[in-house]
Amino acid sequence: MRQVIKNIEDYVMKIMADYDSGHDWWHIERVRKMALYINEKDSLADPFILELAALLHDTVDSKFFTGDQKRGYEMVGGFLDKCRLSDIKDQLVGVIKNVSYSTKNPSGDLSDPVLLIVQDADKLDAMGAIGIARAFNFGGFRNNPIYIPAEEPDKLMPSTIRHFYDKLLKLEGMMNTKTGKRLARDRHRYLEAFLSQFFSEWEFGTTLK
Ligand code: ADP
Ligand code: NI
Repeated sequence: MRQVIKNIEDYVMKIMADYDSGHDWWHIERVRKMALYINEKDSLADPFILELAALLHDTVDSKFFTGDQKRGYEMVGGFLDKCRLSDIKDQLVGVIKNVSYSTKNPSGDLSDPVLLIVQDADKLDAMGAIGIARAFNFGGFRNNPIYIPAEEPDKLMPSTIRHFYDKLLKLEGMMNTKTGKRLARDRHRYLEAFLSQFFSEWEFGTTLK
């Protein structure tokens, strides 16, 4: 089993090498650790399958997978066959397809605890201090502005601060597991505290005459 995990790690590292640094190997490592932690607390899923799913969860990301996504799923599927994991291939590919919160409508097998846990672990990594670091890193990568002021949050122009309102502040309400919900509370508060400090510094800097 260790060897299978090692083979999957190597495969994932190779694919992720081309992604941005908010989606690097360390994101995968954190999601794996978090997923296993949630499962230790909540005992919902098979830890081996969960670990593989966490490792593979971003291998066909639409923003970075330049090829046709269907091809991407087939490639991962083929690799899993080679690893003699055909019996859990559909489950794993199902997680990869449906893990992302950028997937518009909730889809996939929502009774699969592996999917629910990996979704939570992935969302938690977009919250708190690491989530903030990743957001500004992504914004920099895309050359997006940090912030463009507006009267109301829903009238904001595209910026990294706007991303907090579009997504990050909504994640707490989207958690699936008991432990995920508990951890999300702290990280959500940290996002709010950051925004409040950010706006007070912004006001200070822009109201001085
Ligand atoms: P995932 O692959 O985890 O489903 P994304 O690819 O949408 O989600 O996001 C990966 C990371 O990049 C997250 O930390 C997210 O907050 C950040 N991110 C995505 N879109 C933006 C954006 N427009 N501005 C700033 N950060 C973003
Ligand atoms: Ni991810």
